[in-house]
Amino acid sequence: MPGPMIRSKLPDTGTTIFSVMARIASESEAIDLGQGYPDFPVDEKLASLVEAAMKAGHNQYAPMPGLPVLRGAIAAKVARCYGVECDMEHGVTITAGATQALFTAFAAIVQPGDEVIVIDPSYDCYAPAIELFGGRAVRVQLGPDMRFNAERVSAAIGPRTRALVINTPHNPAGTILRHDDMRALATLLRDTDILLISDEVYEHIVFENERHASVLRYPDLRERSFVVFSFGKVFHATGWKMGYVLAPKAMMAEFRKVHQYNVFSVNTPMQHALAEYMQDPDHYEGISRFFEAKRDRFLIGLHASRFTPLPCEGSYFQLADYGRISDEPDTVFAERLAREHGVSAIPLSPFYKDPPQGMRLLRFCFAKQDETLDEAIDRLCEI
Ligand SMILES: Cc1ncc(COP(=O)(O)O)c(C=O)c1O
Repeated sequence: MPGPMIRSKLPDTGTTIFSVMARIASESEAIDLGQGYPDFPVDEKLASLVEAAMKAGHNQYAPMPGLPVLRGAIAAKVARCYGVECDMEHGVTITAGATQALFTAFAAIVQPGDEVIVIDPSYDCYAPAIELFGGRAVRVQLGPDMRFNAERVSAAIGPRTRALVINTPHNPAGTILRHDDMRALATLLRDTDILLISDEVYEHIVFENERHASVLRYPDLRERSFVVFSFGKVFHATGWKMGYVLAPKAMMAEFRKVHQYNVFSVNTPMQHALAEYMQDPDHYEGISRFFEAKRDRFLIGLHASRFTPLPCEGSYFQLADYGRISDEPDTVFAERLAREHGVSAIPLSPFYKDPPQGMRLLRFCFAKQDETLDEAIDRLCEI
């Protein structure tokens, strides 16, 4: 007997490329430089704090917006990193990872028929969420140098534009927005009621002493923004799915209306642990240097191979062009790389609605132990 018919709300959406490549990596026992997570442990101190919180009995529901002590710690960190105040009472909410923060932000603001501008290549959770709530994801592309291009964004703005999604440092491109980009963005949005969703999960992975151009530094942007962060990315604990969002009071009130019926509240013992761990700025201030050394190690290796690396200014992703090795489409080449050469990476085309013709790019995650990177490089150099 056939089951009841479901009319899909996401008819064009399949399994994410991350799950597809994770399966191929595991089947072929490849070194997994695909999905974006570290292969080294979280700091023992942080793990002990979680255990201590559980043993101290912090195992029941947290308050809906998050523990005050954690929101206070976030306010202190934001003041230290970005020199601005935030209203921990009405302007900070703890979420089940950045993904839930993004989803809830879209749920709170997208009305049927609204357009939301998404910049391709884009992290793959934006467009489906926009579409679930009856919106249309309007795609523009980064410039040919994989950088934010204000003119392209400007050309996509129309009467139905409700919001724009930006991401810096950028996954998968590895480029960053700079002060001039933020000023151009502010000019673009001035005198409009377009909201901004700023995905800043890689805020602490910015190289060459560049300053992270957080929306929080720009009052005229901040007043219309949900700014999204991830503890998982900062503290090497992606599996914890812990994050937070900052927004002005009125926007956050709408966010919380959804949040309270979506998750209500987030993992209590981890909130206690993170609140205490964040008191020490050393736990987040050295991260860029830590990953810059890994980027350099991986880059030196890639230069010895037939892959051509693109500039990587932030995040823990390195793009590489394989055009000197093969003419195959990226999904085909990525699968063959994993199965025949034992290294798994993510093809770039799934990050686009309309991938550029002839693009031959893979994304490698270098948030890995040095031995993992060295072994992967050995294999890549043999191709
Ligand atoms: C750009 C970007 N945004 C959001 C997320 C999701 O973060 P979280 O694991 O905290 O949900 C990721 C994870 O890879 C990401 O790369």
